[in-house]
Amino acid sequence: MQPGIFITMEGIDGAGKSTHIERLATLFRTQGRTVVVSREPGGTPLAEKIRSVLLAERMDSLSEALLMFASRREHIVDVIAPALRRGEVVISDRYTDSSFAYQGGGRQFDTSKLDTLEAWVQDAGADVQAVVPDLTLWFDLPAEVAAARLSTARAPDKFESESVAFFGRVIAAYARRQQQNPSRIARIDAHQSVEDVWQQVLRTIQQRGWGAP
Ligand code: TYD
Repeated sequence: MQPGIFITMEGIDGAGKSTHIERLATLFRTQGRTVVVSREPGGTPLAEKIRSVLLAERMDSLSEALLMFASRREHIVDVIAPALRRGEVVISDRYTDSSFAYQGGGRQFDTSKLDTLEAWVQDAGADVQAVVPDLTLWFDLPAEVAAARLSTARAPDKFESESVAFFGRVIAAYARRQQQNPSRIARIDAHQSVEDVWQQVLRTIQQRGWGAP
């Protein structure tokens, strides 16, 4: 059996992850791999219920962080860990780096508490390694450009309604995460055409020895 591959996609709202998630899934499927495409917060029926609360209701920052990680725990236990054990490819639209970026950066919530939650929640059991992505693609786009893209989209949710300053802090936190994890997190310059962005994604995937034509 081939080993499972866990890829996560990150970036501020409006950075354009969605198109590339679909293309990446298609790429792995054409190579005969089983692909699970999922998202956070969400990815299981219970985690999707938590998502609808998180995206609509204002709340205390610790409550928000706890709910993000509770939804993540459900996602890991029910979806991510079982699929990886079966040797499948899991592509998640957001994962723990989002909590460091949005709660840690955007909300300026205590990062050491997030470190603790990360260690608890990503622990998949004594005999199994922690559920850490093999690769994270960080779609980096200036906050003003993302805001302009979003202004023409549907009604904004709780996070999308945040200020450009909030998203500036989210981006700075993503950059710090990338500096701390340079081999796991690849920065994709998202301020380019869809095709140019896709070429960067493809190159990054191929550098790992996956998805060669
Ligand atoms: P997303 O699915 O990208 O939103 P949409 O469906 O509108 O494109 O993400 C939902 C929001 O949740 C996004 O604004 C970021 C936020 N979020 C956090 O604040 N912390 C987290 O840990 C995660 C996973 C998401």
